[in-house]
Amino acid sequence: MAALPTTTLPIATSTQTMQATITHVRRLIFDHFEAIGLEPEAIQRIADCIDIGTEGGNLLRGRTVIDTARVIRGHDLSPAEAEDVGKLGCLVELMNAAFVIWDDIMDGSTTRRGKPCWYRRESVGMRAVNDGCVLKASIYLILKSGFRNHPAYLNLVELFEDACLHTELGQHCDAVAATKSLEKLNWKQYEFITAKKTAYYSMYLPLAIPMLYLGLGTPERLKELYDISMKVGFIFQARDDFLDVYGDPKVTGKIGTDIQDHKCAWPVLTAMSLCDDKQKLILMENYGKDNPASVSKVKAIFDEINLPKAFKEWDAGRVAEMTLMIENATDSVVKDSMMCLLSKYFKDPR
Ligand code: FPP
Ligand code: MG
Repeated sequence: MAALPTTTLPIATSTQTMQATITHVRRLIFDHFEAIGLEPEAIQRIADCIDIGTEGGNLLRGRTVIDTARVIRGHDLSPAEAEDVGKLGCLVELMNAAFVIWDDIMDGSTTRRGKPCWYRRESVGMRAVNDGCVLKASIYLILKSGFRNHPAYLNLVELFEDACLHTELGQHCDAVAATKSLEKLNWKQYEFITAKKTAYYSMYLPLAIPMLYLGLGTPERLKELYDISMKVGFIFQARDDFLDVYGDPKVTGKIGTDIQDHKCAWPVLTAMSLCDDKQKLILMENYGKDNPASVSKVKAIFDEINLPKAFKEWDAGRVAEMTLMIENATDSVVKDSMMCLLSKYFKDPR
C-alpha cells in the first residue's frame, strides 16, 4: 500500500493534541453546567466519568478525525479549523465513552483498559446509566456552542444522531442475537451487527466528520466511504471477538465475556462451521452458561479445532480483500482517509 501523506501527525503528537482538546472541551462542558446551577460536587462526578472514559485508551477515533482533516487539506488547515476538528474528534471520544459505559453494564464486564468498569466502582453502580446519558447529551451542547454558525452544523448534528442510532440498533440486534440458539446464528446477522454497532461510529463517523466539516462530503464520496467502512468494521469487530477469547487481559485491558453472554461472535460462528456433530452438541450445551466449567468446555472445543489458526487465515484473507477495495477506491480523498485510519487501527492481533 502507498505511504501515508506527510501531513499525518506522529502518534505522540496527535495523542497529545487529543488529550489537550479533551481537557478544553471538558472545561466548556463544566462552564455550561456551572451556569445552569450544578454544584461543584455534581460537576466533579461528571469530570471523573469523562476522565475514566477517555484515559488509558488509544483515542483512535478522535485522532482519526484530526489526522483525516490534515490528510484531506494538507498543510492548508488553518489554526481555527485545526481547533474545530480537534473538538469534533473529542466528541467522538465522548460518544465512545458513553457507549462503553453502557456496553460494560450490558455485557456484565469487570474491567476496561485494565481498570474496573465505571459501573463497577463503589460510588457509581447503576448511576452509570445516567452518566452515559450526560456524556452523550454533552456532544450536542458542544456542537451547539461551537458550530451553530458553521455551514456544516446541521450535517454534523445529523451525522452524530445517525451514528448514535446505528450503534444503538447494532447493540439491540447484538442483544437479540444472544437469545437465539446457536444453529440460528449466521454470518449475515453478524455482518449486520458489526456494521451497526462498530463500523458506523468507529470507522465511518471519524472519517465523514472532517469531510463534512471541510465541505467535501459529496453523496458519492460518503457512499464509497460508507461501503469501505463497513468492510473495515467487520474485520475490526472480528479481531475484538477473537481477542475476547484468546487475548491477554494484561494487553487488552478487558476480560472476555462473549462465551458466557452467548454472543453472536466470530469464534462461535466459525466453530459451528468447523465442528463435528459431537463437538456442536458440547457447544450448544455450554455456550452462554456463566460458570467456569462450561466456559472451559467451550474453550476446549475452540482449541480442538485450532481456532487461532482459522482466525489467522480468515483475517489474512479479509485484510487482503479490504486492501484491494481501498486501493481500487475511485475517490482519492476516500482512499487517503482510509489509509490514515488503517495506520492507526490495524495492528496484527495475533
Ligand atoms: C462494543 O461491543 C459495543 C459498543 C461499544 C456499542 C455499544 C452501544 C451501546 C451500549 C448503545 C446503548 C445505548 C443506550 C442509549 C443505552 P463489544 O461488547 O463486542 O466490545 P468490547 O469487547 O469492547 O466490550
Ligand atoms: Mg462488551
